[in-house]
Amino acid sequence: AGLRSRNTFGIGARAPLLLEIDDPAALPLALALPEVSAGPVLVLGGGSNLLFAADPAGTVLALRNQRIALHSEQGDSVVVRADAGLDWHACVQWTLAQGLCGLENLSLIPGTVGAAPIQNIGAYGVEVRDRIHAVEAWDRETAMPVRLNPDDCAFAYRDSRFKREPDRWIVLAVEFALSRTPSLHLDYAGIAAELESMGIDTPGAKQVSEAVTRIRRRKLPDPAAIGNAGSFFKNPVVPATHADALLGDHPGLPVFPVAPFPADAALHDASGVTGLRKLSAAWLIDACGWKGHRDGDAGVSADHALVLVNHGSASGRQLLDLARRIAASVEARFGVALEPEPRIIGADW
Ligand code: EPU
Repeated sequence: AGLRSRNTFGIGARAPLLLEIDDPAALPLALALPEVSAGPVLVLGGGSNLLFAADPAGTVLALRNQRIALHSEQGDSVVVRADAGLDWHACVQWTLAQGLCGLENLSLIPGTVGAAPIQNIGAYGVEVRDRIHAVEAWDRETAMPVRLNPDDCAFAYRDSRFKREPDRWIVLAVEFALSRTPSLHLDYAGIAAELESMGIDTPGAKQVSEAVTRIRRRKLPDPAAIGNAGSFFKNPVVPATHADALLGDHPGLPVFPVAPFPADAALHDASGVTGLRKLSAAWLIDACGWKGHRDGDAGVSADHALVLVNHGSASGRQLLDLARRIAASVEARFGVALEPEPRIIGADW
């Protein structure tokens, strides 16, 4: 089966077998088929966070379950349960239409609900782990469904247990802990300014969603118009001493504190302080002159240095080669190792 329309880079990869599942109840039977169980299984959501450097070796599985409903309610706290196959932004909009607050900063992120916990999607000061109540997943090791609480998911910045053990888990549904009382996160530079320019001084969750949508439309290339997978690199996390040394030479480098999270106990001391800093990968790449660079159809967005783009018929290999050259130049100039954010299929980084 052709996969070009199923990955936002628009890479013309082919899968030996493509399985679309409407009802997860059919999953055990599908996974037990001899042609499926014999090889690897790649679960595909919106295809917005992967790069096909080669054709996938085994079955490609897409879940198409799309229900969403209020699950439980206690005072202001509401748990919403959404199926893995539902479009992420449709999920965000459904919760906002119910008057629920919590997902507004994550508006307009491409992909599906099932993909959200895999890389712990995040934007504008919120990560989805902050809103996850539980993840329902199929465990291929035990051939049983499980319900994992956030601690079991081992979330970290753009990372989770699901991302580290891709052959084991198939996310079936996600439960979100949301609130009827807005507690808005406007601290991220840009949101307050956007709301002001919209003439809104007492925003609700819907207005924050609108502001985020406007910022994203302006800053990030639309995958429907030009192939891309959002940020291609994670923002690197380095020791504070390294960040300070870099700042000495490059005062313009954006440096962010690394927020402690209960599950990241290993990263911070008892006072909750981390000795780590997050650097802007976009700034480092921009400083090396890559913004707008183009090798044939593989390029770096002219709007945002962190986004690799496919101008038409780039292969996954060509995009991967470009990414490696970018990382090598940042390493040579700043001594900082960049890591890719999307999953790379068919090659090691
Ligand atoms: N910058 C440049 N050149 C550029 C673009 C940005 O120098 O071409 C500098 C600017 O100084 C800017 C800073 O980089 O202030 C940060 O840029 P931005 O606010 O766009 O955020 P980011 O760190 O590049 C991260 C996420 C995005 C998320 C935004 C907003 C990662 C890898 N990326 O990008 O997530 O939308 O913050 O919260 O953490 C994604 O994961 O696919 C993604 C788009």
